[in-house]
Formats: sequence, structure tokens, C-alpha cells
Amino acid sequence: MKDVVGNTSTNKSQGHYTDLDGWTRGDLDHFVVPQNWDEYTDEEHQIWKDLYQRQIKILDGRAVSLFMDNLHSLGIEEDKIPNFDDVNKILMERTGWKVVAVPGPIPVEPFFELLANRLFPVGRFIRTREQFNYIQEPDVFHDLFGHVPILADPVFADYIEAYGKGGMKAADHKAAYLIGRLYWHTVEFGLIQEPEGLRIYGAGILSSPTESVFALESDSPHRVGFDVKRLLRSRFYIDDFQDTYYVIDDFEQLFKATDPDFLPYYDEVRKMPSILPGELIDGDKVIHEGTCEYAKEAAARRQKRKEES
Ligand code: PHE
Ligand code: CO
Repeated sequence: MKDVVGNTSTNKSQGHYTDLDGWTRGDLDHFVVPQNWDEYTDEEHQIWKDLYQRQIKILDGRAVSLFMDNLHSLGIEEDKIPNFDDVNKILMERTGWKVVAVPGPIPVEPFFELLANRLFPVGRFIRTREQFNYIQEPDVFHDLFGHVPILADPVFADYIEAYGKGGMKAADHKAAYLIGRLYWHTVEFGLIQEPEGLRIYGAGILSSPTESVFALESDSPHRVGFDVKRLLRSRFYIDDFQDTYYVIDDFEQLFKATDPDFLPYYDEVRKMPSILPGELIDGDKVIHEGTCEYAKEAAARRQKRKEES
């Protein structure tokens, strides 16, 4: 393990590590850094606490039921940014997963490989006050609060490992962007139908106060039943609310539907047009047909920005 930038500061992202130079398959430590927990400042712990308190209120009755239980049983609490070593003691015993610190987003291939080995990369930095409401790069709040509780679920734990292995295979067949869509629409922005109602399990939503309400309660987005090949074709926004959210019945469904060999799927999907974010297609299991009200405003905003640039 080494410190990529030879710098121990934890208060900001240390950049995108897009450089694959010096990385080879099997080099699981290449992007991993020490968390340097002692170096978080009081203000950084306070930012964590403020984010946590705001989000926990919103997620009551909105997050998938296992979320709160797992959050607390893993020792992910409001008072301080958790020490990864403490979380790992519990998590490794529960499902064999382990969290590792990274300085910022890493390239997809090493990302897939970490997942395939039950290692979940977590950005060690925390957003600043100025970034309190939105940060595009995944920080420790998004990664640890959003992603890690669900890794303590045995079925989901297996799903992500299988996903990592599938990702490595996809990368060998130039299909990383296709399998990446599946990650986006499930792990980041997935909804689940529980007996008590629709709930959130995607970390991108779980770590966003506004999207937590929007994804479940707004009339604007479509909510459509999960279908693997449909998702492999479905484009998305990386910096705005989604126009469509995909709903699973349970984690078993996710695990079983992704079990077949994906290589024939990629061949099939590559011959078909991709599906735009707000588009509905024949065969969709539509749970809620959106008004697209927000989607239209957002599209107008994007158009305006484009004309101005
Ligand atoms: N079964 C898929 C394949 O063979 C891999 C995969 C597993 C993809 C889980 C997504 C999720 O490529
Ligand atoms: Co994420």
C-alpha cells in the first residue's frame, strides 16, 4: 500500500486516477491508500455529522428496510467519520467484504477487479461546506453511508462480487460501458418494491436528500420494472435526477437475472439503438408513467447551457 500522491491530507479529493500506467491485472493495491483517520479535522467530522443527520431523517420510511439496521450494526454512526478498520471487523465477518480507501475515483478496470475480490473502494475525503448539497465525485459520505450498509446483505454482497467479475469480462470485450449502465441503474439508482411500499436501495439516491424524495414521490420520473437487457441499453444522466428509475422485486431477482453469460447479450444489445433516459419502450413494465415535468425543465436548462458555451 502506498500513498499515491505522497500527501496525507484527507480534506479533499486528490483527483481522478485515470492513469492505468503501472497498473496490471492482479495489482489490487495500486490505487489503495491509508485512510489516515487521525487526520480528519473536527470540521470534517462535523460535515459528516450534518450530512448524516439530515439524511437519516429523510430516509426513514424511504430506504430499503435493511439499510438502517445495517448502518447501525456496522457502526456507521453520526458522531464521526467511521474508521474503516472498525467497519471492516464487522463487515468481513458478516459477508467477507472489506472497505479500502482510495484518494478519488479510479479507472473502471481496477474498480471491477476490486469488486471481484470483495474489496469496496471508498473515497477517503469528505466534501467541503461549499459542496454540502452536491458533489459529483464520490466522497466518504456517498461511499460509506450510501454503499456499505447493503454490502452486509448476503445476496447483495454476492451480486456485487459477480458484477465485478462480469465487469472484468466485459472490459475484455469492450463492453464496460454497457455493464456500467447496469451498475448505474441498480447499485446507484435502484428502487425496490417492498411489502410496505416502494423503497430506495441505490447509493446515489440514498446519499442525496433531494433525490431521495424525487425518486420515490415526484410524478415526473417514470418507474419501470427491472429488465436486464433493457438496462444494458439505457442511457442516464450523471449530474441530474434520473428520468427513469428501475424497480426490482428483491435482491434475488437481481442476482438471478444477471447470472447468465452476458457476452451474447452484448452482441444483441450492440445491434439495437440505445434507449434515452426518459424513453419508454414496448414491453416495459410501467409502474408509474412519469409526467416528465422535471425532465422537460432539465432538458431546457441543458440546452440553454449548451447555447451559452
Ligand atoms: N453473468 C454476467 C456475465 O457473464 C456477469 C454479471 C454478474 C453481470 C452480475 C452483472 C451482474 O457477464
Ligand atoms: Co457510488
